[in-house]
Formats: sequence, structure tokens, C-alpha cells
Amino acid sequence: MWSAIIGIGTPTFFYREPVNVRKFIQKIDTMNGKQCFLFCTHGSIIGNTLYHMKEDLLKRGLLVIGSFDTYASSSLQFYPTPMHTAYHPDEIELEEAKNFGKNICDISLRIQKGEVDLIPKFELIEDTWWAKNSKMATPEFFRKFSPKLEINVDKCTKCLQCQENCPGDAINIEASPPEIQNEGCIFCWFCEKSCPVGAIEADWSPMKEFSKSNLKKYIEILKQAEREGKFRPYVDYEKMY
Ligand SMILES: Cc1cc2nc3c(=O)[nH]c(=O)nc-3n(C[C@H](O)[C@H](O)[C@H](O)COP(=O)(O)O)c2cc1C
Ligand code: SF4
Ligand code: SF4
Repeated sequence: MWSAIIGIGTPTFFYREPVNVRKFIQKIDTMNGKQCFLFCTHGSIIGNTLYHMKEDLLKRGLLVIGSFDTYASSSLQFYPTPMHTAYHPDEIELEEAKNFGKNICDISLRIQKGEVDLIPKFELIEDTWWAKNSKMATPEFFRKFSPKLEINVDKCTKCLQCQENCPGDAINIEASPPEIQNEGCIFCWFCEKSCPVGAIEADWSPMKEFSKSNLKKYIEILKQAEREGKFRPYVDYEKMY
């Protein structure tokens, strides 16, 4: 008998799923025995994204039966542009994603018939520099240390693009003065980079300085992935720091 499989997609933020995705999963009504699969885009380090999602989904009664992840072009204001994973996912990764999609129904049926060995295991990694950083990367931490975004009212055209696309529902353009990074902000900084007239302003220089050492480590990790045949660079990422 066929039953629907639920797919949940996410980027990786700070070495795990973003806060809004976490909250979304925690609000899912309990669905005992339902199967789901995960897909994830990330830069150099997917971290514990799949592990945490799997654990939270299990608490809602959902069994993760497979996952697909791929490098994706990241853009962060305090890192170089283009970034090291630029032009990903590439043709090969898109083909792999298609094949994953084609196979997941078969996997689902086989697990239903008792092939429980097919259920993937996701390991929690704790003993690395990035896992430690991930634990620190709370909304409270960013509220203190992230650059303060400000809306320049002389430039803002009130197009509402930032407000409508804010994943934390943390912008109120109609307020006087307009509000940004209200309660709920997940520090994705998407509003700043997507404002069509550059009306959201911030000083990125402290973050640029702070992030230099991370960049070096990302490059080492990508070099290793390249040696293992898991990453194909499209930019000269070794010269990026
Ligand atoms: C705020 C922020 C934090 C990020 N943190 C990570 C990270 O910890 N590890 C990683 O591999 N990529 C990280 N990225 C890169 C994103 O995962 C990547 O931009 C995203 O997967 C691209 O997919 P999209 O085009 O669908 O947003 C981060 C990106 C942003 C904006
Ligand atoms: S996207 Fe920019 S111009 Fe549009 S409302 Fe937001 S700040 Fe104003
Ligand atoms: S950084 Fe901007 S877009 Fe992202 S959640 Fe905060 S206010 Fe919204």
C-alpha cells in the first residue's frame, strides 16, 4: 500500500538547521510512523544539521528514511564573493538529487517490508571547533555580536520585499521608524543583501576580521573533500583568505 513520504529541505546555518526550521519541526503535529526524507544545501560544513533534524522529527513521530545533501553557492557579507562553493550544485549534484528522488519510494517500501537496516544513522559530532562554535551561535549571541542592521529611510522605497521575505517575521517597515531584527530574527542577513536599493546598512568590518580564521579552516576542509573526490571547485578557493 502507498503512503505519502514527507520531504523537508533546509540550508545549513551555523553548522546545523536554522532556528526557523527547528521551530517548524517542533510545531509539527505528531504523526506516528510517518516516513520522511531530508535534503540540505550547505557550504563547506554541513555539521550536525541532519542529526538534529532527525532527532526532532523522531520526537514528532516521523522516521527519517533518507537524506540528500549538496554543496551550494553560499553568500555571506563577511566572506569573499564568489565564495568557495560557488556554482554548486553542479550538473553532477543535480543528477544525484534526481536519482535520490527516484529511489526514495523504493527505499520507503523496502523499509516498510522490514529492511530496517536501510534506515540511515546520523552521528552527532561534538568534538570539533565548528561543533563548539555551533553551540555558541545562539540568537542571544548574535543579538550581542552581529552587526546592527539599520534601515536608511532616505533610501527605503517601502517596497516591503525585506519584510515579506524575512524568515523570522522580524521586520516592520510601516513602523516609525521602521524596525528590523525584532524578536524572531534568525541572523540570516538576507534582508541586507537582498534590498534592491541598498537601504539596509551595516558595518561588516568586525565580522570580516573575526571570520578570517574560519575561512582558512573551510578551505582546508574543502581541500580534503576535493582529495576524496567529494568536491569539485569552480573558483580558485585556495587564495581566498
Ligand atoms: C547565516 C548563514 C550561516 C551559514 N552557515 C553555514 C554553515 O555553518 N555551514 C555551511 O556549510 N554553510 C553555511 N551557510 C551556507 C548556506 O548553507 C548556503 O548559503 C545555503 O545552503 C545556500 O542555499 P540557498 O541558496 O538555498 O540559500 C550559511 C549561510 C548563511 C546565510
Ligand atoms: S527591501 Fe529595502 S527598499 Fe524595500 S522595504 Fe525593505 S529596506 Fe525598504
Ligand atoms: S537578518 Fe533580516 S531577514 Fe534575516 S531574520 Fe533577521 S531581520 Fe529577517
